[in-house]
Amino acid sequence: MNRSLLIVDDEPNVINSLKRQLRREGYEIYSAQSGEAGLDLLKNHNPAVVLSDQMMPEMDGIAFLVSVKEVKPDAVRILLTGYGTLESAMAAIKHSQIFEYLTKPWSGAGIKQTISRAFEHYDLVAENRRLHKITREQNKQLTFMNEHLENLVQERTLQFEKAMHEGIIMLAAAAEARDDDTGGHIRRVRALTHDICRGLGMPPEECKKIGFFSIMHDVGKIHISDSILKKPGPLSAEEWAIMQTHTIIGEKILGNRDFYRTAREIARSHHEHWDGNGYPDRLMTNEIPLSARIVIVADVFDALTHKRALSVEEARSSMKSESGKLFDPEILDVFLDLKIKFPEETFDDAQI
Ligand SMILES: [Fe+2]
Ligand SMILES: [Fe+2]
Repeated sequence: MNRSLLIVDDEPNVINSLKRQLRREGYEIYSAQSGEAGLDLLKNHNPAVVLSDQMMPEMDGIAFLVSVKEVKPDAVRILLTGYGTLESAMAAIKHSQIFEYLTKPWSGAGIKQTISRAFEHYDLVAENRRLHKITREQNKQLTFMNEHLENLVQERTLQFEKAMHEGIIMLAAAAEARDDDTGGHIRRVRALTHDICRGLGMPPEECKKIGFFSIMHDVGKIHISDSILKKPGPLSAEEWAIMQTHTIIGEKILGNRDFYRTAREIARSHHEHWDGNGYPDRLMTNEIPLSARIVIVADVFDALTHKRALSVEEARSSMKSESGKLFDPEILDVFLDLKIKFPEETFDDAQI
């Protein structure tokens, strides 16, 4: 704690008398006999309190204390003045923010009390500043921690979303594995669905979502036995009825969370036909969810070019004849306008 006191008076007697009176107060006392000498001392010392006489040759007390304020703004300043000069000094005291003035002759108790209050004031200001500094630092730390926390939450959310997406892909691939063990079908359907959405002018997020959930279109096939799924010849009426249930089962597998709503629409309705001759609900035209109307185009195209091994051109012209029957004509037109990218490796997940 700073306990140093500077006393400035041109009379050595006054200095000595003050020193004597303050001897037992525990202050570290410096003294000077002129303002100039006092300012000189301040180059190497940092007193908490400065007490100065007013009437001095050369530099008077107020001028000195004003200079002290400039070089040591924290020092608490006290002026010692005679009764005769008090009135003329008052305005200057107020103006230069002097903490207190003492009048000559002073009482021992009065000076001790005034100087003690000056030190208290100094400590209070210092404590206040210290607390402000701590608050500022804590605020800074808090801001930093908040930012860090936000980044952490964002990072974790991204990791979580990635893991969830991977889980969905795994499930789709598991369902597809019995049909097409390379997983190429779902990747190509996803890319093509995404491109058709873009061609329809849908917002990028929506294109991404429908593209992604298109991979779940046949997830219900997980429940269809191999004897039906892999039967080389045509299916009996009964087998065909079972086969068709993959749409409803798929929708069930996808639960009831809102997040999977588009996936459920696609799973249930990707075999509905624009003219109402599809399954399982025989929906017509705009009754069929848009996502499902898009996926059927991508799904059929991929089946024709891969399972049935038609060329792109053959597949396109075969699909053209299904406009307004199997397919929504507007969506089919958008698809026919797309530049279909082959070979397959151009369907890169990273592009989606
Ligand atoms: Fe299907
Ligand atoms: Fe499919």
